[in-house]
Amino acid sequence: MADKKTFYVTTPIYYPSNKLHVGNSYTTVAADAMARFKRLTGYKVWFLTGTDEHGQKIQRQAESAGKKPAVFVDEIVAWIKELWKELDIQYDDFIRTSEPRHKDKVAHIFKRYYEQGDIYKGKYEGLYCTPCEAYWTERQLDDGNCPDCGRKVELIDEEAYFFKMSKYADRLLDHIEKNPDFIQPPSRKNEMINNFLKPGLEDLCVSRTSFDWGIPVPFDKEHVIYVWLDALSNYITALDYGKEGSLFDEFWPADVQLIGKDILRFHTIYWPIFLMALGEPLPKTVFGHGWLMLQEGKMSKSKGNAIDPMVLADRYSSDALRYFLLREIPFGQDGVFSLESFITRINTDLANDLGNLVSRTLTMAERYFNGILPEPSPQPEKDQELCSTALKTPGVVETAMDQMKISDALAELWLLVKQSNKYIDDNMPWNLAKDPDQKERLGTVIYNLIESIRFIAVMLQPYMPRTPESIWEQLGIKSDQGLQQWESLKKWGQIKPGTVVSRGEDLFPRLNLQAEIRAMRVDKSVEEVSDEPKQEEDQAGLINLEQFQQVDIRVAEIESAEPVPKSDKLLKLEVNIGEDDRRQVVAGLAGYYEPESLIGKQVLFVANLKPVKLRGVLSQGMLLAATDKNGDLALTAIDKKMEPGSRIS
Ligand code: MSP
Repeated sequence: MADKKTFYVTTPIYYPSNKLHVGNSYTTVAADAMARFKRLTGYKVWFLTGTDEHGQKIQRQAESAGKKPAVFVDEIVAWIKELWKELDIQYDDFIRTSEPRHKDKVAHIFKRYYEQGDIYKGKYEGLYCTPCEAYWTERQLDDGNCPDCGRKVELIDEEAYFFKMSKYADRLLDHIEKNPDFIQPPSRKNEMINNFLKPGLEDLCVSRTSFDWGIPVPFDKEHVIYVWLDALSNYITALDYGKEGSLFDEFWPADVQLIGKDILRFHTIYWPIFLMALGEPLPKTVFGHGWLMLQEGKMSKSKGNAIDPMVLADRYSSDALRYFLLREIPFGQDGVFSLESFITRINTDLANDLGNLVSRTLTMAERYFNGILPEPSPQPEKDQELCSTALKTPGVVETAMDQMKISDALAELWLLVKQSNKYIDDNMPWNLAKDPDQKERLGTVIYNLIESIRFIAVMLQPYMPRTPESIWEQLGIKSDQGLQQWESLKKWGQIKPGTVVSRGEDLFPRLNLQAEIRAMRVDKSVEEVSDEPKQEEDQAGLINLEQFQQVDIRVAEIESAEPVPKSDKLLKLEVNIGEDDRRQVVAGLAGYYEPESLIGKQVLFVANLKPVKLRGVLSQGMLLAATDKNGDLALTAIDKKMEPGSRIS
């Protein structure tokens, strides 16, 4: 037998700096759907995910939590693994960059680069964004801040090793131009070429000396290896790169490396150059998907409950969450997560379309045939439409998946769901049941519906692994009959008459949107306002507790303060509002406080105000202050030191 075709898919490895939010889960859910789809369609698949554990950012976070980095990351990694279990992520390997199997190989790779002259020692004097773990030049900054995350950059000045990126730049440009699939979607390609390759690649600093949470440079222990060189290598160290007969020989080059668009530069410039220097082929495709946003802007790990994927999966099922993520946003584009759109998808696509199809069909099979699947008569003309849609859908779904159009694949599948519902409405089995002469026709209708549901369930498996399990149970289909396999979709009429079917619980009960909004309102980030009638209190100028709770007031610690140019009232501050979130605020404090005297102060801060620009400077929140009738001003404070981000209630 010929060897199976292989398929290697990877996700970024996540920083275990905090719990992941639903936006982070998005890549992994998409990768899992791809991996499951390829397994189902006969490929030998390797699906890798993991955690990116080293670097200055993690070291600092561990320090501020009062923990050793290794202990700090262990706890979060355990949570991440739990989350992947909850979301049915069926990875083949989970790599942690703190594992010896990774560290040893990275040290070896670094030494090889050095010995072959790709790395040399020098001095780095320049800018660094710690949250992104990225080096920037003055020219690349956006208003003086990191162009990726908008936060402050730091000046670093230390001895360092450098990688000769420029040596490989022309080869990379050539590769990108000759391989249109390499950077996907195509719109992202020009961004990389014009912003980074064409202006000329500078040599990359690949070691640090000012902290030690990393892989030591094997021949110079004062240095730790730059976290992106360390992290990117995971895609091959996990395959046991360098060992004969390893998974690397079997699976490299990767078929698809899925990432968010914010880390495209690392994956389409640094990573291919590191591979070229090793003489290894480049991944076939690096796919940079879009951002999942909240209505009020970027998702952040500190926004809490309702974007915690664990909470959403617990309340609405992991299948519903997976379906929403994969269906709602065309893969590659940005999309908005809101509780309203999530609940609407559950109610329309899952409860109405799919859930009703299954429950109506099984109720009728039980009522009219005691749950024993009747024999169909040879396919009459009027059933052709349903059969031919069912038979062509697998091909259409496969084409969409090969182009990474996951949302389109689901939309195609839903055409079959909708057509099956229409088949019920057109044939009106309840009328056929009234006429004993129509018993045979009724049997054919029910048989076709059950077979169509089977087709749907087979195709649904990669996206929503649990729902098909429930459908198999209701259709009386066991795993060893071949009826759950992709192959079984080649021919219509595979499920055997006589099979005993039975209606189970509804797949997706309908939800009440308002009740869900109320229940999830512990987190204000999901829905800003409700359309409930105005309360009497409003008119009297009073507010109720719920209204008060809509204001997200927190303890913020001021980390920097400086005057806003050309303004005698405004200061620009950076405040820490906990959980790795920092905000820039413009406040009218000049004249009341010297900028330096504010640093380290803990004050009260409104975190969910719409951002505004004051004198052209972005302000993302408001500090609470009191003013008296003499025009004096005092910031509000709390009466003992608290964790930044603590909420006021
Ligand atoms: N550790 C690096 C990746 C190293 S890969 C060799 C990293 N980690 S991360 O935890 O910050 O982000 C992981 C992924 O989550 C990235 O692909 C990022 O784009 C993605 N997302 C973070 N927030 C997101 C949304 N709101 N929406 C979609 N994806 C998001 O970067």
